[in-house]
Amino acid sequence: MRKQLIIEDIEWNLIDRGEGPPILLVHGFPLDHSMWSAQVDALSERFRVVCPDLPGYGRSRIIGNRDSTSMEEMADELAQLLSVLGISQVAFCGLSMGGYIGWQFWLRHRERLSHLVACDTRIVADTDEVARGRRILARGVREHGAGRVASVMIPKLFAATTLRENGAVVSATKRVIAETSPATISSGHLAMADRPDMSEYLEEMGTPSVLVVVGEFDSITPPAEMSGMARKIRNSTYVEIRGAGHLAPLEEPESFNRALIDFLESQALSQDIPQRLPE
Ligand code: MLT
Repeated sequence: MRKQLIIEDIEWNLIDRGEGPPILLVHGFPLDHSMWSAQVDALSERFRVVCPDLPGYGRSRIIGNRDSTSMEEMADELAQLLSVLGISQVAFCGLSMGGYIGWQFWLRHRERLSHLVACDTRIVADTDEVARGRRILARGVREHGAGRVASVMIPKLFAATTLRENGAVVSATKRVIAETSPATISSGHLAMADRPDMSEYLEEMGTPSVLVVVGEFDSITPPAEMSGMARKIRNSTYVEIRGAGHLAPLEEPESFNRALIDFLESQALSQDIPQRLPE
């Protein structure tokens, strides 16, 4: 079911579908909830799936003006959204920028996590060079618009086979990027450039259990980096999705869904934790 909710200065657009233990799906940059369509369909048969557009992305609107929204603020805003939806504990599944937000959710709202799923993401902050590049891009997009962003990003987001053989997925993603406002793209880059390095926490992670999942051909957050990160997290599960690039859930939905559902079910979701907050 599609919902629209106003909470403080955010008009949220989200999918809230299914019944069962809740899972929150958080999209990457500069995308929207539609990247998770195949997961919403498959998971909502046994889980309550909450899949929002982040503030400023897709159809979620920021009412008024903000310079940029940090990863920490987005984690807090998602926690607040879950409270309004009556969800006390959730499996948090974030891709790339969604994963950066996931680390902050772990840091700030750990008691509300049943599981953490880190997809095609990284734990370290930007290098100085990458952060500098983002700031230049942010200024360029604000001054000259985001016209070229989609065509520059698309080849990096997908595996070569997806680019060659899955035109529908590639053009739908291109459309989503093209429809993201220059202000959101610009502020997203600034927020990611400023995000903290979370690697000092890797050894503390592991409670709740963590799934690290990455596309075999992800060139943005490659398997070598993600497997190294997974090795440092206690009892983590690491899965590589064959044939996929950076957008593994979109490119190889069946393998991705199997990995996610196996993980969630093998980690026996706790039924004695109240899933709804008291009225
Ligand atoms: C994403 O997919 O969210 C981006 O690649 C994240 C980033 O630019 O670091």
